[in-house]
Amino acid sequence: MNLISDRTSLIHTENAFKVGPYIAALEEAGHKVVKCNLGEPDFPLPIHIREEVKAQLDKDNTHYTNPQGVPGLRKAVAKYIGEARGIDVSFEQVVVFPGGKPPIGMCQQTYCNPGDEIIYPSPGFPIYESFIRYVGAVPVPLHLREDLGFSVTGADLERLITPKTKLIYLNFPSNPTGGVATKEQLEEIADVIKRKCDPNIRIYSDEIYENILFDGASNYSIASIPGMQEKTIIATGASKSYSWTGGRIGWAVFPTVEEAKLFTNLNINYFSCIPPYNQEGARVAIESPLSKGTIAEMNHAFEERRDFVVGALNNMPGVSCQLPKGAFYVFPNIAGVVKNMKIDRAYAALPEDLKKTTSPSTLFQMFLLWNYHVATMDRKSFGQIGAENMHYLRLSIATGLDDLKLGMERMARAIDDQAGFDEFIKAQAHFS
Ligand SMILES: Cc1ncc(COP(=O)(O)O)c(C=O)c1O
Repeated sequence: MNLISDRTSLIHTENAFKVGPYIAALEEAGHKVVKCNLGEPDFPLPIHIREEVKAQLDKDNTHYTNPQGVPGLRKAVAKYIGEARGIDVSFEQVVVFPGGKPPIGMCQQTYCNPGDEIIYPSPGFPIYESFIRYVGAVPVPLHLREDLGFSVTGADLERLITPKTKLIYLNFPSNPTGGVATKEQLEEIADVIKRKCDPNIRIYSDEIYENILFDGASNYSIASIPGMQEKTIIATGASKSYSWTGGRIGWAVFPTVEEAKLFTNLNINYFSCIPPYNQEGARVAIESPLSKGTIAEMNHAFEERRDFVVGALNNMPGVSCQLPKGAFYVFPNIAGVVKNMKIDRAYAALPEDLKKTTSPSTLFQMFLLWNYHVATMDRKSFGQIGAENMHYLRLSIATGLDDLKLGMERMARAIDDQAGFDEFIKAQAHFS
């Protein structure tokens, strides 16, 4: 009898959490690490939200509460999601979760039988792909197109749809690319879904970066398109909009109250309920007019950093980088670096078992981290299936401008250091 179930080996992970201990080891050794790996805003929790959480703690609002989420927060969510997307939302369709992440896997458990096909963006948030084989479903990556600013056309999606397609993830603004689909692209996608998919399809529209947009853009949801709200789960939360990743508050609007009840029951099974004091803080975050100002301040800083980093990257030989329209990531194509530094050849020459744990962009990511102390994420961390020859890095701009300047200087030196890279490969120490 095996100790661990077969299923357990099928779940993957989010590598962003893996890099933390490497950074800690470098810092302990006395190095200054530039952290372009972080998926969280580098701003404090806004004061008006913090004050509400403190007041709730002082009221001893610290006990079990409604497993679907406190009604005040659900009403605030229903109102703002409905108004911002031009749709009617009842607070009974809203379920609160411990962050934006849990409903991703729960949707696969709830909607998919073994053999059902799940379409998800690649590169994309790793948890979409991570869960699919774990629930016995079939992963179908939808490769985002760099030439479209990391979006897709209706035709790109149409090619992947079969009678077994059950769940489709969309994520705009996108992690890791910062890409934002245009209204026209979403209309094409919706048209394909309405024409080609079974009526029982569900679209998971991950809009967690809904408020982090540049150049005056606004978030357009696929749920706003006539005929789509009935098929769409709109998922978002407090982590990114209010710089509150540790609060663990997210929410989703389900197409029907019956579906919301199924997810409430999963909440009961997994964790009973979410801390009520944080839920009240999230309600204030949504309702307070002060939040508009704190979001605008954050976006202003991100936009300035984005312009600097994209400019610096595009000045490096072998690197090309699109200008992201939202979120706080840039996603440079480093295929030229892989070729110029012969990283592809170094990778091809590795023993088979080592090859499986790394990739050319991982080798460069690790070289940059261990030799130049700049932490980034590799392409492989954002969906592996069908991404073998794609060479990209994700750099988070949720770190101060001075650090970003230092990071860009170090990266420019790293791509010019063939001898250092050759030594790094010879040592075979830090390949994943
Ligand atoms: C696209 C996307 N969805 C969901 C999440 C999860 O957010 P949370 O920290 O609220 O669980 C993230 C976090 O990075 C994300 O990038």
